[in-house]
Amino acid sequence: MGEAKTGRIFSGVQPTGNLHLGNYLGAIKNWIALQDEFECIYCVVDLHAITVPQEPVILRRAIREVAACLIASGINPEKSILFNQSRVPQHAELAWIFNCVARLGWLNRMTQFKEKAGKNRENATVGLYAYPTLMAADILAYRATHVPVGEDQKQHLELTRDIAAAFNSMFDSEFFPLPEPQIQKTAARVMSLRDGSSKMSKSDISDATRINLTDSADEIAQKIKRAKTDPEPLPSEAKGLEGRPEATNLVGIFSGLSGRPAEDILSEYGGQGFGVFKPVLAELCVSQIAPISLEMNKLLEQPDEIDRLLEKGAAQAQAIAAPILAEVKQLVGFSG
Ligand code: AMP
Ligand code: TRP
Repeated sequence: MGEAKTGRIFSGVQPTGNLHLGNYLGAIKNWIALQDEFECIYCVVDLHAITVPQEPVILRRAIREVAACLIASGINPEKSILFNQSRVPQHAELAWIFNCVARLGWLNRMTQFKEKAGKNRENATVGLYAYPTLMAADILAYRATHVPVGEDQKQHLELTRDIAAAFNSMFDSEFFPLPEPQIQKTAARVMSLRDGSSKMSKSDISDATRINLTDSADEIAQKIKRAKTDPEPLPSEAKGLEGRPEATNLVGIFSGLSGRPAEDILSEYGGQGFGVFKPVLAELCVSQIAPISLEMNKLLEQPDEIDRLLEKGAAQAQAIAAPILAEVKQLVGFSG
């Protein structure tokens, strides 16, 4: 490692189902790359998961599965801190303080709440509404400076910065840094394989819309083969993708997986149909994604070992967050 690491990375993922290619390209791939350069803290955000109803047995399994999936993808628990949120009480504690800093007007603007609450907003939990203040607490309990996320989290990061600035100004301090979002240039928003206008998501009822990190090589290849496209051949320049959401998405996925810019890919495949492009994309995807599920299944044979790693990660996380919370309490004016 040698060089001094500057800045601290924090990011989180919900244990609410299988991780998919959108999580991988939008967030996790970046998390893996950052491990060598920075102090990284990665969190399975189970407190966020219960903002919508969860079955306890399924939640408990999902926490282990997501942790195993992250390790299988390349998060190294020797290098990075990996833990689940509910084991570190400072998250909920700081979130309460932030509930008393953030304003209703700020939360009312959050588009993710509007999407998740749907039409029946009166029936949404208070937790779902306050979700972004907990996310701000996740990040700021460690005074993290950089947050690698997909594009859908940009608004929550802006709110986190607003909360940090408001806290600093209320208590006349420079205590919290204003954390920077780190959003990938390619594949920051991976779309559904069946509809190029909606996000690839864990909660989509159709499994054909996403590539799960737990899919077998055959399943991955089949899903890419059946992905929705249009009848035109690929253009030779990025401009030609305008108005073609499904083609844009597949080129974006190719770019995210290969690390090659879209222009480069289009100059090679421009003029070719999807009959040529899809098998190459399928092979690329299988070669990167299929090994993850094999490794994950191996890890899941030892659930005690996963629990041990999460417990160790939680102790490391708490060692950082506890003194920060002690200072916050001083600033707020609590005694003791
Ligand atoms: P979640 O599954 O909502 O907990 O998201 C975990 C991480 O994956 C966050 O950084 C999200 O921004 C990112 N993410 C989720 N879905 C997508 C997607 N379809 N495209 C790109 N990034 C995504
Ligand atoms: N809200 C994020 C998502 O759904 C998950 C998350 C919770 C998170 N806390 C975080 C991401 C803190 C980054 C930093 O994707």
